[in-house]
Amino acid sequence: MAYTAGVDVGSTQTKAVLINEKKEIIGKSLIDTGANVIAAAERAYEIALENADIDPRFVEYVIGTGYGRYKVTFGNRQVTEISCHGRGAVHMFPNTRTVIDMGGQDSKAIKVNEKGEILDFCMNDKCAAGTGRFLGAAAVALDIPLDELGPTALLATKPIRISTTCTVFAESEVLAWLGKGKKVEDILRGVHQSIASRSIGLLRRVGVFDEVTFTGGVAKNIGMVKSLEEGLDRKVNVGENSHFMGAIGAALFALDHVLASRQPVAAEERR
Ligand SMILES: Nc1ncnc2c1ncn2[C@@H]1O[C@H](COP(=O)(O)OP(=O)(O)OP(=O)(O)O)[C@@H](O)[C@H]1O
Ligand SMILES: [Mg+2]
Repeated sequence: MAYTAGVDVGSTQTKAVLINEKKEIIGKSLIDTGANVIAAAERAYEIALENADIDPRFVEYVIGTGYGRYKVTFGNRQVTEISCHGRGAVHMFPNTRTVIDMGGQDSKAIKVNEKGEILDFCMNDKCAAGTGRFLGAAAVALDIPLDELGPTALLATKPIRISTTCTVFAESEVLAWLGKGKKVEDILRGVHQSIASRSIGLLRRVGVFDEVTFTGGVAKNIGMVKSLEEGLDRKVNVGENSHFMGAIGAALFALDHVLASRQPVAAEERR
């Protein structure tokens, strides 16, 4: 049994996934990327190996992805995160034709075909307004842990309309609304709606087709899932592995390589 790995070194968090030949996830890990990107890639891979309880010698191919993919020094190849999120999303949710990846630093809308190949994409590479960082700034301003942001936002009864689209000003706007006596949940719901509407803008640029799959760390935020669903007026696919989608896609590309490289050997044996 061959194993392959995908290591997604994101600007904020590093994810590693190990799969077997049946494309089942046998180990995974998630850590903060931090300042030492090479060390983060190594550590995430080690933890995934421990989690799977396998020896690295049995891992036949490793693909690095994410902004730090060239820091996966032990990897065999690099693939862009756009390709990996597309591939992972279609593997997990086969009717996916549009992917929204919301990470720590940027958001990407990706249009894919039934094989998970990229047909088009669009990203907000110059501005963090539609990303996890914007939510992080709001979390700091309101002194709420990241994983409580979404559930708190869902308690809102009168969402506030957030006017700033800039992360730098998000904190001061949130504090200004607090000063005016607005409820935390109403402010937070407004923050989520503002980010969702920016992401929907990206999605509309590539076109919203069939099923939409939400990937990246922000997919863990139930408030963002609901805000996207409301704005799009349709369900979006999310699952326990949404945060790992890029790493899953990378591991699948690695498996393609292993299986393809076996074929000439098989032909040789037949002769
Ligand atoms: N439990 C959680 N609840 C809510 N949000 C979360 C949670 N865990 C992570 N996040 C969000 O996910 C973000 C990180 O997501 P992800 O790992 O996809 O980013 P990345 O790949 O490092 O960034 P990028 O793709 O932009 O380079 C964090 O900034 C945070 O906002
Ligand atoms: Mg990412």
